[in-house]
Formats: sequence, C-alpha cells, structure tokens
Amino acid sequence: MAMIDHEGITDRSLEIIEANDMGGFSVPNAQIFGRSQFLWDSCLVAEAMAYYDPERAAQEIRSLLQGQQPNGMVPNEVSRNSSAAQRRLFGTEVSGDGLVTSGITQPPLIARTVVGIGKHMGVDDRQKFYQEVFPKLVRYHEWLLTDRVVDSTGLIALIHPYESGMDNIPTWRIPMHEYWLNGRGINSRLQYPAMARVTGAYRLLLADLRHVPIEQRSDNEDVLSSFLHTRVLKRHRYDMEELWQRTDIPVQQDVGFNAVFADANEALFEIQEEINQDTYCVPEGLVSKIGKQRDSLHTVLWQADLGGFSGYTNRDPRTGNLISVNTAAGLLPLLTEPNEKRRNFLLERLYDQEQFWTGMPIPSVAIDDEQHNETAYWRGVSWPFVRFIMEKALTKIGDDIGAQELRRITLLRPSEPVKSEYDHPITGEPLGIFGFGPSAAQDAVFSQRYRSAMRHARHRCTSHK
Ligand code: GLC
Repeated sequence: MAMIDHEGITDRSLEIIEANDMGGFSVPNAQIFGRSQFLWDSCLVAEAMAYYDPERAAQEIRSLLQGQQPNGMVPNEVSRNSSAAQRRLFGTEVSGDGLVTSGITQPPLIARTVVGIGKHMGVDDRQKFYQEVFPKLVRYHEWLLTDRVVDSTGLIALIHPYESGMDNIPTWRIPMHEYWLNGRGINSRLQYPAMARVTGAYRLLLADLRHVPIEQRSDNEDVLSSFLHTRVLKRHRYDMEELWQRTDIPVQQDVGFNAVFADANEALFEIQEEINQDTYCVPEGLVSKIGKQRDSLHTVLWQADLGGFSGYTNRDPRTGNLISVNTAAGLLPLLTEPNEKRRNFLLERLYDQEQFWTGMPIPSVAIDDEQHNETAYWRGVSWPFVRFIMEKALTKIGDDIGAQELRRITLLRPSEPVKSEYDHPITGEPLGIFGFGPSAAQDAVFSQRYRSAMRHARHRCTSHK
C-alpha cells in the first residue's frame, strides 16, 4: 500500500491556506476570487486552521458573520471589493461597512464548524467564542426556518442554484433550463443561442474563464439562466415570500442544503449545552421547527422507486414533484439518517464503483446516471466540499473504516500536490483552478484525522493484549 506523505501534505496545505489568507479572512483562491470570502469555503478552511491556530480559525467565522444581514441571513459571498462585472452577473449587493454581500446564502456549515473549532480551544476560550457566536447562529437558523419555509413540510427552500453550493448540479440545471431557456424567460427560442453567445463573450472578462477552460465550468446556458434568474431575485429584493407569491421562477427544497442544515441544528444544540446558561437557549418555537425540518428531510425528500429512481433528491415545492437525478447531495442525509435500512442503502450506493466510489470519489452525479458529465463542474466532477462533509457523516455513524478509506484515497490522489479545485471522477486528473483553499483545508484535516485514527487503532491493539 502506498505511503502517505503527511509532512509534505501538511506543508503544502498550509502554504496554500496562507497564500489565500487576506489577513483576518480567507478567499478560496487569491488569483480568481479577488477579496471575496465564501461561506462554506471559509468553514472548511477554518476547520483546518483550528488545528494550528484556533484563534485565527475563530476569526474566519467572525469575518464571515460580519456579512450577516439585519434579518439574520448570512450571505454566500462577503466581498471587500468585488468588480462591477461580478456584481452584475452574480447579483452581489452593496451593504454597509465597505462590504459587498450577496443576496443569497450557501449550505449552513457554520454551526458545525464552530463546534469543530471549539474542540481545539481551552474551556475558557471556547465559552467565550461560543457565547459570541451563538446568538448570531440562532438568528441565521431562525431566518432559514421562517423566511425560507414556504409550505407545511417545514423544509428550507432555496431561491438560487448557487445557494446549494453546487451551482449547475442537474437537479437545478434541468428546471433552470426548462424555465429560462424554453420560451418563458426568453421570449423566443431563436433568441437564446445568441444570448448564450453574448454571455460567453462577457464571461471572458471574468477571471474565471481566463484560468479554466469552459468545459470544466458551467456552460453558457447555465450562466445565462442564472443571470436571468438573478435579475428577478434582485427585482424582488431576494425576498422569498414575494418570489413565491408573485413569480413562478424555480425554487427548490434542496436535499444537500437541508441535510447540512439538519446537522447544523444538532451542532447548535451542542453549543447550547456547552454554554449551559438560561440566556443562551434556542427559542422554544424554533425547537419544533427544527424537528419538523429534520423529519421532512427524511420522509418528504425520500423517493422510493419512482420513475426508476430511489433515493433522496430535490423537491419543487410549487408542484411537490421530486427530481430524479442520482447526485452526491442525495447521499448527505446520511448525516442525520434515523432509519437503518435507508442508511445501509445510502452506504451501498456510496461504495458502489459504478456510482460514487469511482477512481476518485465522490462524483457530484453518479457515473451511471444519464446526467453525469465527467468534467462539467457540478455535473460530475469530485469536489472537496462533498468529501469533507461525507467524511464527517461516516465518522458520525461509526463507519470508521469507510471514513479512513475516504481520507486515504483523498490524500493519495494525483492532484494532491496542486490542490486543484476539483478532480476528474475517474482518473483523478486535477481540474479547475489550482491552489484552492478548501482542497488544502480538506487535506490538512484529513491528514490529522487519518493519523489520529491510526493512533487509536494501535492503542486498541495494545490494550487488548
Ligand atoms: C463556486 C462553487 C461553490 C464555491 C464557490 C467558491 O461557485 O460552486 O461551491 O463555494 O465557487 O469557491
């Protein structure tokens, strides 16, 4: 079995994390993201920083929460000077304090990350940090459970594909194309190829396509539909109630987001327990909403053999229809899966070499699904975000062997030295930009956890003698 070079991996990871550290906040990659901090990217990076400098890790969360809006929303993007082109295309909004924030959010990993950071702090620092962030996290979760709940399921509905963190994943791409490019958004079918070409030309102005070929990114149709969609969001001030009642644009109860959120709520209760003071409590009204969201995740978003597909997937709350695509997001309910049969079903799916346990796990879409595309961004490639969350899920459910194997394969992947943004799901060839903070963070954390699991295993052996 190949040896893992933990020292080299750690050095390379920390170098990248440092290169993307703007002083008090991190960007995914300094070359193409300017001074924009992203929600779940920063969460991964903060977890890695916690091993070496818990105070800097806490600062990463603080800087992210600087972007929190008065209504409690935490944006997916907090920028300290974003370009006008970026603002037009991605819909970022100017807010106070010299910050430019987006009007949309991203998978709410923050509470879980806070617990992860807390583990590396002494008791006093942890108390202080938890007390500082707890009220903000409660407001964020409360906003999701009120403003973003549109029906009796209590599930969180997303207003933009980027909120899933998985921009052009087919569960979003299909309804977005259907709505925007099939004559409703753009009034004529003839007009849209021309508009897609214009979008393509415009995109060349952005750093994104200057560094990465378009085959590895969202295509022009994806970007065009997202752009048209964002214009409507802006017009309605990103307000879900208005969008729900006055428009018929696609919104979705996204399975990956809802799974991360159910786990984040557990983390919120863990923080509350650790603080252990009457003034730091999740409000009662919220507790029942949290329970409902979690129950619905495991019932409403589960599809049993409909149209040939079984599993967890996204739901369109306007029609109640589930979208039959076998995505990595559909595996994330493992984080809180209460049912043993379904847990085994998901694990079998994960470890199936024809689906997700490929040469380079875990593709964003199963390789045997007709929607799978080997290089096209969230339509098929393997991302660090998914591996990072899955490693936590496997650890949580006690699948230590699976978690360790995922760490091992990840640390030995061909692209490890360059810390690519994502990888080819079969060959492991590095794709996207190199020097990507979340990939470096994943490696730093996996390397630590791999070694710690090895130590535990050794310890178990000697104690049995
Ligand atoms: C892309 C990815 C998203 C990530 C962001 C910053 O939009 O789809 O997951 O957070 O880039 O890296």
